[in-house]
Amino acid sequence: MKALILAGGFGTRLRPLSCTRPKILFPIVNKPLLDLTLERLSKSGVSEVILAVNYGAEALKKHCGSSKYGMKILYSEDRIQHDSKNIFSPPRPLGTGGPIKKAENLLGKDESFLVLNGDILTDLDYRALMQSHKKSSGIATIALFTVKDPSRYGVVKFNEESFQITQFFEKPSRNEAPSNLINAGIYALNPKIFNYIPKAKPCSIEREVFPKLASEKTLFGHPFQGLWIDVGKREDYLKANMLILESQKEQSPQNQMFGAHIKTRKPIAIGENASIGEGSMIGPYVVLGKNVNVGMNVSIQNSVVFPGVIISDLVSIKGTVIGENVFIGKHVQIGENCIIGDGAVIEDNVTLVNGVTVCPFKTVSESVFEARCLM
Ligand code: GDD
Ligand code: MG
Repeated sequence: MKALILAGGFGTRLRPLSCTRPKILFPIVNKPLLDLTLERLSKSGVSEVILAVNYGAEALKKHCGSSKYGMKILYSEDRIQHDSKNIFSPPRPLGTGGPIKKAENLLGKDESFLVLNGDILTDLDYRALMQSHKKSSGIATIALFTVKDPSRYGVVKFNEESFQITQFFEKPSRNEAPSNLINAGIYALNPKIFNYIPKAKPCSIEREVFPKLASEKTLFGHPFQGLWIDVGKREDYLKANMLILESQKEQSPQNQMFGAHIKTRKPIAIGENASIGEGSMIGPYVVLGKNVNVGMNVSIQNSVVFPGVIISDLVSIKGTVIGENVFIGKHVQIGENCIIGDGAVIEDNVTLVNGVTVCPFKTVSESVFEARCLM
């Protein structure tokens, strides 16, 4: 079985951390999201993965090479499209449909294949999705998940008896959504799908293809329950880490591993070579990446700290994501929902209130008392 992963989005809702890495390489409890997906695809019998890349292509190629988890990895690059008639038009990437058509020769015409939005953390059974697809003999079968607020997703009208999706609405307003059943961003597709996507042009599979298939009665659904989260927004990225931490609670390291004067509250995860100074309180719900150095009397809760970060003494951090190799001086306080870009320096005694964003490599020497972006 082959799978194509849509891996080329700009990750705008995860800026500034996505300015320095593609979103599918963001770590989820110290393992890149892409690796979690690849591992599960490999266990489901996938032998070949095509990464549809655009933004961050080089980083993805370096990360995966030509094989991973026993699967062959191939790359299909979008190449940003200008309007052929007007060179002064802004370039547009291929979207969520264009890259599938672009990879037509790699995916082949003989067998159905999987397509996955790369930014989804899930425990969906990919084999079961493919089986439903084969049973229905439709052109596309979409994994469906139930959420409270469907308005920021693709939403379907679904017939539970025939498994047919009779209507598909991409990001409807709250009162337009026909149900709470959403497109989970994972599809089994028959090669006939290539006839529905224009060649070498941007195309949204959700807006241009699925509604058409629904009207032609060849769009099916595969509802599932379990773990599903799109990590593409900062609060959801934090939530994804918290959910995995929760599921690994029993494996959280104990106090005694760090010495008598360090307190930990489960669940936490501590990367290789990370160190914690005396009097510090780590947890609950904290991920410390590889080579993170935490000083004395530091308090960290509900946060993800990327690798190589140095946190000096007497610092307090809550509900925040700290990018790679950030330096945090003494007596710093960082409030909830802040996001600190890679390589930033937060100098001694600085307070950042809730919602402050710091761009990569920025030095912050004064406190900030309103939610804003420091460039
Ligand atoms: N190669 C390539 N080129 N990949 C792209 C492009 C592109 O131009 N644009 C987006 N992608 C990738 C993204 O990296 C992501 O993995 C996936 O396509 C979906 O794009 P998002 O930008 O994350 O879409 P969304 O989250 O707003 O909505 C989509 O996912 C929802 C589920 O989370 C839609 O498929 C919705 O219908 C769905 O409910
Ligand atoms: Mg998304």
